[in-house]
Amino acid sequence: MGSHELIHRSQTSQTQDQIIGLDSSPRPSKSVKSFRNPVQYMLRSQRLIFLFIGIAISSLIFSKLPLRQHQIANPALLTTSETTHLSRRRVLYEAAEVQHVNAGGKVPLGLQRKSLRILVTGGAGFVGSHLVDRLMDRGDSVIVVDNYFTGKKDNLIHHFGNPRFELIRHDVVEPILLEVDQIYHLACPASPVHYKFNPVKTIKTNVVGTLNMLGLAKRVGARFLLTSTSEVYGDPLQHPQAETYWGNVNPIGVRSCYDEGKRTAETLTMDYHRGLGIEARIARIFNTYGPRMCIDDGRVVSNFVAQALRKEPLTVYGDGKQTRSFQFVSDLVEGLIRLMEGDHVGPFNLGNPGEFTMLELAEVVQEIIDRNARIEFRPNTEDDPHKRKPDITKAKQLLGWEPRVTLRKGLPLMVADFRHRIFGDQKEAAGGGGGGDATSSSMYSAN
Ligand SMILES: NC(=O)c1ccc[n+]([C@@H]2O[C@H](COP(=O)([O-])OP(=O)(O)OC[C@H]3O[C@@H](n4cnc5c(N)ncnc54)[C@H](O)[C@@H]3O)[C@@H](O)[C@H]2O)c1
Repeated sequence: MGSHELIHRSQTSQTQDQIIGLDSSPRPSKSVKSFRNPVQYMLRSQRLIFLFIGIAISSLIFSKLPLRQHQIANPALLTTSETTHLSRRRVLYEAAEVQHVNAGGKVPLGLQRKSLRILVTGGAGFVGSHLVDRLMDRGDSVIVVDNYFTGKKDNLIHHFGNPRFELIRHDVVEPILLEVDQIYHLACPASPVHYKFNPVKTIKTNVVGTLNMLGLAKRVGARFLLTSTSEVYGDPLQHPQAETYWGNVNPIGVRSCYDEGKRTAETLTMDYHRGLGIEARIARIFNTYGPRMCIDDGRVVSNFVAQALRKEPLTVYGDGKQTRSFQFVSDLVEGLIRLMEGDHVGPFNLGNPGEFTMLELAEVVQEIIDRNARIEFRPNTEDDPHKRKPDITKAKQLLGWEPRVTLRKGLPLMVADFRHRIFGDQKEAAGGGGGGDATSSSMYSAN
């Protein structure tokens, strides 16, 4: 008997056994049969329903995780680790109550904004301490890094003991590693008296300090805001100054450590943004005044106010016809926050376009403090710009920002603070703060 016959007989006997109900061997399973007609099999065993359910679940999951590649300057330039950092930051910006991503500050109506961890370098200084007040008021966690060169712990004392607040004595010229979502980089002496005191240190702070903070932003995927200055326009040949103007700066003068330092800081910021995908913002700040300014720091508003209060003559340098525009600090803080939270890199001019000659400013100070204050003329200082007035069209259009506090409204608040610090007059300072226990909200009453 051939093998063919054997097979044939066994198949035949199996069929007969099945017919008479004596089948002891396992029946061929349904699935084996269904391979012959897969469509029929799927329909019959309802596998299609499961397939559709699977597709629906996965589409739901992916639709809840939108990738915001369009927000990254040039994703092609990012390394794997940077992509990881960016996605980590996206997670950090997630709104508290819903699992969707929000990389900027615009929070859809009805949703609670997740509080951020924010680093403010130079936060113990004049502008920095007011910015910290606003960030703390809105519920963020703030870390201040400051070497106290011109800043004071006193400016932040009202936040001590708050678990959302930390103050670190540190010089930004040295690297530091902190896990944060945003970095406001303000650390740098701002008044000529202070930045000329140690010019090499000033340029180091601007260059090495900014490099360190940009490096930190890159490492932790934080958004970075540089506080640059109207000094990048030097002694401007264009008036008023728009952001498109490249400036007229002396690279070897006594102010160059500050002016050129800030210009280099802007360059570094843009290179980190373009080349490494850092989310960057640049503010060009024009003259700002308000409570907590250093007394006797040589800036014209603080000089005049302190002199008038002490019954000293108001010193006007040159003929007093050089112009400046003066912005109250709460307006600046609002502009900085809008810039950080918005979608535009800048640079943006942040200043008050109201233009005053030094003599006009002296008259306002006389009007507010002492009508009999004398004016004394002195020779002008080297490289003092003749005109300064911001063109803020760009900030108005793209940030929806413009200053609201006039000089006549803002100056009395600063006077109250200076009076308190010079004479210890508590009552007068109630609206001005000045590093005492005044709360932040009092700073903004001019609004
Ligand atoms: N106030 C203005 O009118 C004005 C105008 C243009 C630009 N800005 C810029 O705004 C920022 C803040 O200015 P401000 O008026 O508050 O000045 P400020 O001197 O009151 O504050 C600067 C702060 O930075 C700190 N600091 C300085 N060097 C540091 C370093 N190496 N490491 C750590 N901390 C350091 C100081 O101790 C101080 O607390 C500065 O970057 C300044 O260039 C200010």
